[in-house]
Amino acid sequence: MQLDSHRPEESVPYVIVVGSEKGGTGKSTTAIHLAVALMKLGFRVGTIDLDARQGTLSAFFRNRAAQAERSGRPLELSKHRAIVRSGAGDPAAAEADEAGRLQDAFDDLADCHFIVIDTPGSDSYLCRIGHNRADTLITPLNDSFLDIEVLAHINRERREVEAPSVYSQLVWEQNNQRVVAGRPPIDWVVLRNRLAHLEARNMREIQALLSLLAKRIGFRLAPGISERVVFREMFMQGMTALDLPETGGGQGEIASHAAARREVQELLQAIGLFEAAPA
Ligand SMILES: Nc1ncnc2c1ncn2[C@@H]1O[C@H](COP(=O)(O)OP(=O)(O)OP(=O)(O)O)[C@@H](O)[C@H]1O
Ligand SMILES: [Mg+2]
Repeated sequence: MQLDSHRPEESVPYVIVVGSEKGGTGKSTTAIHLAVALMKLGFRVGTIDLDARQGTLSAFFRNRAAQAERSGRPLELSKHRAIVRSGAGDPAAAEADEAGRLQDAFDDLADCHFIVIDTPGSDSYLCRIGHNRADTLITPLNDSFLDIEVLAHINRERREVEAPSVYSQLVWEQNNQRVVAGRPPIDWVVLRNRLAHLEARNMREIQALLSLLAKRIGFRLAPGISERVVFREMFMQGMTALDLPETGGGQGEIASHAAARREVQELLQAIGLFEAAPA
């Protein structure tokens, strides 16, 4: 893959934020795989952990650095920053402090092609100003009606959107602020994650609802990511399916790893910055 020609060659990093107001939907997993995939394409990548208390993204890159050191294997490493919440008692002072911390991180990562930001599964000032930086926002969603509530309150029987969710409003607000400031709007991409073999009728119903919501709420749907052991099993080694050799292991394993790599590449393509490199 190569950087698509329609991307203006700017000197500022392109920012991909992974966010959702729900915990455990695959935000950190998505951020990890995107960052590694971009580095494997030869880009300089900065990563920012706005969920520093949990610290999943930070732990992954710590594990990866240790693995590279132990094995002598040259694993790509991002320029990583973790931002902890301010301890200031006064809310205005805390916000100013956190805005300053985020700006410092951006200044440190100014020479990167991409910045990938992982966010916590709950609303906070840091989470909101993180969303404000998104050129692309990726919201992973598990395949259930409960998860769709992250986007909007829906009436399942009547297939109607009753009201946007608090999270959709957060994204709209940040988007408006960007547009007012003369910056490009957020390209919001919803990603179905951990796709499993759901009952076909259920799956069709979720797909139909998401297509309806995409128009109403203003996001695009990316091809999904399946439930695969390889997406979680190598976390402690700081590795991903993208780091595995194309051969080795059983036939089933090879096929599953190849499929995992394909899914991550399709996500990159869906973001719209890339086109397949000519063969
Ligand atoms: N496609 C997938 N296949 C298999 N396991 C997955 C997949 N996506 C995520 N997981 C696993 O699901 C769990 C939750 O994922 P992850 O930590 O990425 O979610 P999160 O949205 O960052 O959670 P939190 O809100 O707590 O930060 C992890 O154990 C992760 O390895
Ligand atoms: Mg996380």
